[in-house]
Amino acid sequence: MNTKTGNTTCLWKRDFVLLIFTVVMVILLYSMVTEETTTVRSPVPKLQEKIYPVPISEESITPLKNTKHLLVSAFMDQRIKGFDIRIIGIFKRDSIQPLHCSFCCGSVFNQTTPATILVHSDHFGFPYGATDVLCQIPQNCDASHVTLLTNPSANASEHTFIPIRNKMKKTRFNFTVCISTLFGDYNNVLQFAQTLEVYRLLGVDRVVIYNTSCSPELDRLLRSYSQEGFLEVVPWPIGNFLTPSNGWRFQDFGGDLEYYGQLVTLNECVYRSMERSRYVLLNDIDQIIMPYKHDNLVSLMNTLEPQHPNVGAFFIEEHIFPCKHFEPSRKFHFPRWEKVPGVNILEHIYRQEPDRSVYHQYKMIVKPKSIEQTSVHEVLKKFGELYKVPPDVCRMIHLRSGLQGFLNVEELNEDKRLWDFQEKLIPNVDKVLKRAGMIPAEEQNKL
Ligand SMILES: *[C@@H]1O[C@H](CO)[C@@H](O)[C@H](O)[C@H]1NC(C)=O
Ligand SMILES: *[C@@H]1O[C@H](CO)[C@@H](O)[C@H](O)[C@H]1NC(C)=O
Ligand SMILES: *[C@@H]1O[C@H](CO)[C@@H](O)[C@H](O)[C@H]1NC(C)=O
Ligand SMILES: *[C@@H]1O[C@H](CO)[C@@H](O)[C@H](O)[C@H]1NC(C)=O
Repeated sequence: MNTKTGNTTCLWKRDFVLLIFTVVMVILLYSMVTEETTTVRSPVPKLQEKIYPVPISEESITPLKNTKHLLVSAFMDQRIKGFDIRIIGIFKRDSIQPLHCSFCCGSVFNQTTPATILVHSDHFGFPYGATDVLCQIPQNCDASHVTLLTNPSANASEHTFIPIRNKMKKTRFNFTVCISTLFGDYNNVLQFAQTLEVYRLLGVDRVVIYNTSCSPELDRLLRSYSQEGFLEVVPWPIGNFLTPSNGWRFQDFGGDLEYYGQLVTLNECVYRSMERSRYVLLNDIDQIIMPYKHDNLVSLMNTLEPQHPNVGAFFIEEHIFPCKHFEPSRKFHFPRWEKVPGVNILEHIYRQEPDRSVYHQYKMIVKPKSIEQTSVHEVLKKFGELYKVPPDVCRMIHLRSGLQGFLNVEELNEDKRLWDFQEKLIPNVDKVLKRAGMIPAEEQNKL
């Protein structure tokens, strides 16, 4: 993980005892949580001869001193001429002031360059919005950390720096799924496990999820998946800094920031994946981007990519499967899954035809290097072209409960595509539920 090795010459050293305490705490944390969930936690700082008194944050959200803004992550990004660094932040839109990037360059930490501030156009009227800050790295600077100053001659050692990521470039994954924020007492454990196992069968290598809160049962499942390495859980305690909104539109829901910062997390995830994943899927946890003519996403994209070499974002049409209709034979209704909270995706096979005469939604498979800024259903700034994938080639299966409207089964299409995966899917789901302690012992013997 490129984020685990913080730079060592730019350290916070005020109190040696505090440092020792921190080291002990960090070692404790390391033994408690997995390699994957620690990617955003503090690394163990190594002492070096020259130490500069600069505080460093490895948290997911860091308040920016003397402003109302929050810093999230900084990434190397040299796709736009004249800039080297992109900081993703959450900025109060009516309080934007000129800012200056200040860098840790080896033993020097007070080099500054002017910052260009770009508030994303999709903010849905909320006071806070996803914001990019672009800067050039000063000459002869091997930058490891960055912060923003309101005054270029301010004392940088009184500001908190964040690490610069994506300095190492190595593609390890074909597909990463970015799920935005988990919040409330989210407890749809069975659908979560089934969906992740479908992703895995489709060729997904990594799922990234931003965790504000979830139920104790789901927490167990998340821990088990992140221990194994398939899931990367990013702590997202946005409620400690802002009043997040439960909805997407300010005038309807109020609050400081759209949907617990959904847009910020999606953009953070695209950049987090930029140097390590060929493709990124941007969808919700109750949605599956499903090829209908290929066995998996690898063969789907190996077909689409040569046909559309300049495309950076492939749009996949949403198809709703209302959870109120059950498949009548109930052949996939297993007693051992009854005690697991949540929806059984194999029991819902009725698909609503989208009304293409009105606005309907898409989700995306993107090449992360083609994306500059993304929204939920569209990209805001991009380098490549866009392409709508025909629905007979690939659809987004959206299993929705609590749906309004009264469509009868007769008005829906039968679609058993998920059943094509049942042979491997069912034992795999059993295995992860067992590992997370979700299947009672007496049922386990029958497996
Ligand atoms: C930056 O730090 C160097 C080394 O500590 C010092 O010589 C220089 O005067 C500082 N420059 C500014 C602008 O503070
Ligand atoms: C900058 O701040 C640090 C930490 O508060 C302090 O030790 C140092 O003396 C300050 N430097 C200047 C030039 O004010
Ligand atoms: C990525 O896909 C290629 C085929 O296009 C395959 O050979 C390779 O093993 C895949 N890598 C991973 C990490 O799944
Ligand atoms: C998710 O966040 C909640 C609230 O901070 C926390 O209690 C829980 O342990 C977190 N789960 C994981 C797997 O990080």
